[in-house]
Amino acid sequence: MKGVAMLEITFAKPVLPEGGVLVVPVGEGLELSGLAMALDEALGGGLKRALEAAGFKGKAGSSATLLAPGSYKRVLALGAGKPGEARGAETLGGAVSAALGKEEAVSVLADGVNAEEAAALALGLRLRAYRFDKYRTTLKDDEKPKLAKVAVLTSAPKEAAAAYERLSAVAKGVELTRDLVTEPANVLFPAEFAERCEKLKKLGVKVEVMGQTELDELGFGTLLAVSQGSAHEPKMVVMQWLGDPAHEDKKAKKPVAPIALIGKGVCFDSGGISIKPAAGMEDMKWDMAGAGAVTGAMAALAGRKARVDVVGLIGLVENMPSGTATRPGDVVKSYSGQTVEILNTDAEGRLVLADVLHYANTRFAPRLMVDLATLTGAIIVGLGHEYAGLFANDDELAAKLALAGEAVGEKLWRMPLVKKGQSYDKELNSPIADVKNIGGGRAGGSITAAQFLQRFVGETKWAHLDIAGVAWAGKDSATAPKGATGFGVRLLDEFVKGFEG
Ligand code: BES
Ligand code: MN
Ligand code: ZN
Repeated sequence: MKGVAMLEITFAKPVLPEGGVLVVPVGEGLELSGLAMALDEALGGGLKRALEAAGFKGKAGSSATLLAPGSYKRVLALGAGKPGEARGAETLGGAVSAALGKEEAVSVLADGVNAEEAAALALGLRLRAYRFDKYRTTLKDDEKPKLAKVAVLTSAPKEAAAAYERLSAVAKGVELTRDLVTEPANVLFPAEFAERCEKLKKLGVKVEVMGQTELDELGFGTLLAVSQGSAHEPKMVVMQWLGDPAHEDKKAKKPVAPIALIGKGVCFDSGGISIKPAAGMEDMKWDMAGAGAVTGAMAALAGRKARVDVVGLIGLVENMPSGTATRPGDVVKSYSGQTVEILNTDAEGRLVLADVLHYANTRFAPRLMVDLATLTGAIIVGLGHEYAGLFANDDELAAKLALAGEAVGEKLWRMPLVKKGQSYDKELNSPIADVKNIGGGRAGGSITAAQFLQRFVGETKWAHLDIAGVAWAGKDSATAPKGATGFGVRLLDEFVKGFEG
């Protein structure tokens, strides 16, 4: 039973409810919306008096609670900040969930904002209400979320509901990603992940799953080198959403220069023989967050019937030490034909992506590729938890991605990437093979990782997002409870919009 499935958000005409729990957004300047004024009147001026007494100024993030005023159970005034603040409505919605999760029904007086903002408010509310309680069998009643019905009162309920319907598909994608990322590795191993991908067929996504035999036949030497120490079979999942209107008059559907999204899906990263220290190793259950984001994005795009062709490819493996595991110093042949000297088995994500990137590129001839990966600890040292690292071989692509990220609050910071044969790239030259899987030292670790990937992407426009610092949050944010953030889904959805016919 999931909290999210139980939450119902509806949009209704701006009529002041006679009772219950009300949320009153109030911006700086304390200007009240029509409904808020009606409420103030119903309370004999009690709303304004209470806000004044509480020293409430309408600042973003501030709030004031009125308990049992008039015929109401509770009125929560939420600071809406200055008008036009980036993602103000979404943040406000998140605050409603954070503050009122224990109420059963809530009405939000959203008549002061337009339909788009009312829908954004609902999105923020929903995303912040996410829970993953499936393994908590002893939750006490007062620890459980109760919020089941939210009425957003707006002057344009039809328009707001339509806008929310599109956002709702994206929210479903984010929730799917968060579920995948949160699942422990004993539950979500490659085969189970692939099965969850198969569920996207219901949305019209074509889903193919390849296992050990097929990957062996293809010659996925670097991906298989990561997987070979594990008892779990590796999988590659290829998902195709063919929404380009050009397909409408043709029966045989083949993607035409699609956008390719590629994800690192290391279901657990122990480090392999180059094993990680025990402290914090449990975090490596979410080393598949790149694959999770690609899967969630495919669900979002299909869910809102995006008018564009997008393929999503994820490499799913488990990186384990064992008698069959890859040893440091082993040389393997990648699907591209390049040989790789594996000096550190903990630099495994790039080995998985090398084969999947080359496969995506050669099979689909995509117009561009974007990969997402929890690739390096070094990106956390460099950028912390605010920005993901953005590496690209094309300035326009980099700019488009950064803009999309800014628009949805999944921010990207561009990092250096040099041409093959230059500076950072040269560190990857191996004395025994075509390339080695780590650079000369710890310095610039995220960059040398990206340089490694670049050796497998050819001339295709490509960007790599290192999301190691943003896929999982240690604390609650405006629109996500702590834990899996679902980073990448909204960003990719927004980015893809720019290509829709
Ligand atoms: N999955 C890790 C990177 C990571 C670290 C993700 C922390 C999320 C949080 C990756 O496979 C890894 O182990 N990278 C090594 C590379 C090194 C061996 C060159 C790292 O960052 O230390
Ligand atoms: Mn690793
Ligand atoms: Zn890893």
